[in-house]
Amino acid sequence: MGALQWGGRFSAAPDRELLSFASSLSDDLVLARYDVQCSLGHVEALVGGGIVSKVEAQLLRRSLHLVLDEIASGAFEQLARSSSAEDVHGLIDERVRELAGPAGERLHAGRSRNDQVATTLLLYAHDRGLLFAEMAENIAAILTGRAADELEAETMLAGATHWQPAQPVLLAFVLAAWAEPFVRAAQRFAAVAESATASCPLGSGALSGSTLPLDRQAAAAALGFRAPSRNALDAVGNRDAILDLAHAGVRAAVDASRIAEELVLWTAPAFGYARLGDAASTGSSLMPQKRNPDPFELVRARAAKLTGLYAGALATMCGLATSYHRDLQETKAAAIAVVEEALGVLSAFARAWRSVSFDRDRMSERAELGFTVATDVADALIADGVTARTAHAAVGAAVARAEEEGRALGAADLARIAQDSGLRGVRAPLGARESIAAKRTAGSTAPAEVRKHLTALRARA
Ligand code: ARG
Repeated sequence: MGALQWGGRFSAAPDRELLSFASSLSDDLVLARYDVQCSLGHVEALVGGGIVSKVEAQLLRRSLHLVLDEIASGAFEQLARSSSAEDVHGLIDERVRELAGPAGERLHAGRSRNDQVATTLLLYAHDRGLLFAEMAENIAAILTGRAADELEAETMLAGATHWQPAQPVLLAFVLAAWAEPFVRAAQRFAAVAESATASCPLGSGALSGSTLPLDRQAAAAALGFRAPSRNALDAVGNRDAILDLAHAGVRAAVDASRIAEELVLWTAPAFGYARLGDAASTGSSLMPQKRNPDPFELVRARAAKLTGLYAGALATMCGLATSYHRDLQETKAAAIAVVEEALGVLSAFARAWRSVSFDRDRMSERAELGFTVATDVADALIADGVTARTAHAAVGAAVARAEEEGRALGAADLARIAQDSGLRGVRAPLGARESIAAKRTAGSTAPAEVRKHLTALRARA
């Protein structure tokens, strides 16, 4: 098999180690079906320009569809394992030449791997962008559904900042907050998918276009692009869409990692807020009692790892002159690795949620611990005309006294605070439930506001 697509001007054989060093076959195998698609588009450019006959075009299409079948069945991957082709594009070209006979020799007319790789990556980015968007929507829906359950159950907890008890909130409010980043992620993914099909690089050749009358319009239309690209030199070196997709993928993985962190803590017995069921937990080879939340720990770690990998992909573009450079092969490999692994992170994250249950009583019981109603007491003073600073100081002093005596804030504290502030009395919520119900602002944890938010989240689906 003639594995290389070049070599006519060389007399010595290539160094095998260097050839293998330069190969991207293992990295770009995931692009196989997109390359075939791209080649089908190129056939339209060729036949539209009269460069191949209708019969030849038919032979090429049929062979390309056979390759698609081989990709679907796994036979193509098998072939790749024993191949010395430089990349998936070379391997498909070689396979088409085998299947189509002399017509196969015409497929690469007017085409360079440069416009081919750029187009193939856009088709991949479009497809994966839509898949990512669906996954992000699914996660948002899972969290919205869980929020609705907890709104019904009226579960509360001590909302925290700095991991310190801050103010009582509904668990539904927290779950709805967790859904929001995935709504935004879905929008980002959809935008990348949309932008990926804006302009089609096919027909750009290596860097300057072609002297052959390629029907670029036909190729672009056949592949679902809105137009042919406007500048060949830009088109062959543009990696915006795949980098944007990798970026959006990392962002979503980071969103998942932040929730994963909370669940790791919440499932620790010291917290006891949540439990991860058997299907998602792992045990210890030594400690018989252990129940570890590995999926969430790994989501957390992979998000960090992907952040680094994405930085690597972007870094390969730094200072790269316009046009194609082999460096872009590394951009591609790193960005694809980010995309594929981020999909795995989101999928595992969504799946692990099936095994998460909450200890509603424990959470609700602790919602008041740590003087979480203190802000409401200060707010009540402010509503009665006391300045924010005076109110803060008066409630702070009451908290210090209660803490020293090892008790929560009570009616006697309110009376003393009122007296210190020159008021006859003060009415403030002393319990978590009352505190939550007393919230008045839009977007707050008040049950009516959370219900509104859930309705809005559901309306998107
Ligand atoms: N394997 C290369 C890549 O992925 C293909 C492009 C090669 N182009 C070239 N001019 N050598 O980027």
